[in-house]
Amino acid sequence: MMELENIKKIAVVGAGTMGQGIAQISAMAGYSVRLFDLNATALENAVQKIEGNLSKGIERGKVTEAQKEACLANIQTTVEQSELVADVVIEAIVEKLEVKKSLFAQLESINSDQTILASNTSSIPITRIAADLKHPERFVGMHFFNPAHIMKLVEVISGAATAPAIAQTIYDLSKKLGKVPVMANDAPGFIVNRVARHFYVESLKTVEEGVTDFEGLDKLIESTGFKMGPFRLMDLIGIDTNYSVTVSMFNAFHQDAKFRPSRIQQQKVDAGHHGRKTKKGFYTYD
Ligand code: NAI
Repeated sequence: MMELENIKKIAVVGAGTMGQGIAQISAMAGYSVRLFDLNATALENAVQKIEGNLSKGIERGKVTEAQKEACLANIQTTVEQSELVADVVIEAIVEKLEVKKSLFAQLESINSDQTILASNTSSIPITRIAADLKHPERFVGMHFFNPAHIMKLVEVISGAATAPAIAQTIYDLSKKLGKVPVMANDAPGFIVNRVARHFYVESLKTVEEGVTDFEGLDKLIESTGFKMGPFRLMDLIGIDTNYSVTVSMFNAFHQDAKFRPSRIQQQKVDAGHHGRKTKKGFYTYD
């Protein structure tokens, strides 16, 4: 079984909103990081974003110039999936079960029996992603929060087959990455997304029914002490990702009406207005 002290190489699959931050904190903790995406532009953007985050860290006195250089030197980018051989592989690609399953089947075939395979999924049951793996015992949920280089919480989720020692290693690794991990059992949305889903779904419904507009609702929620209202937060998360999470939870809870996806959110997805990452969502960005 892979233990914390044996982990040297981390592969991060998907260089989008979440993969960027996960690669950054892994490299900051001294790991050799291989960051993969299908899309070469996504990799370029990711490296730029990481450089920007580190420069901001320097301005705030939290990161030194030497740490920034060491961190960037620890990250290698690639579009070759065959290069994703590591001690721990953390997946952060689209929130679609079939896509994740086929990726993990390939990752399992190129890695050793010791490698831990982890998914950053927000909502898909870990047991379901692992169902066709040869070694589901070394598959685990490692759910970071956005922005991954800042938010402390990591949910470590054990599927039906996950070996307790593997969950423990990922728990220990999360701490080494400067995070505050919590163990969770497998259920749609795990802990935080299950509870928080109502924040998004009910806010969308309130606006859809014309009770108020989205800016008004954000202002009101922010005035009560929340850092961001639900619409500003969906723009940060990615409206497409947030929508996929709602759809996946709606299905996982047997079409329970309280998780029903919203029409206005679906329209944003259809229009390609996915939030900050596309410069337009509920709000517009420069
Ligand atoms: P994103 O849309 O920003 O990035 C996904 C990246 O994965 C893209 O660059 C895309 O090119 C790449 N990709 C897509 N399919 C791929 C494949 N088959 N192989 C390799 N790369 C592929 O998505 P985001 O927001 O980073 O989400 C990724 C995962 O993290 C999802 O499972 C999501 O539920 C989860 N998550 C998202 C959070 C958020 O706030 N956005 C928070 C916590 C978890």
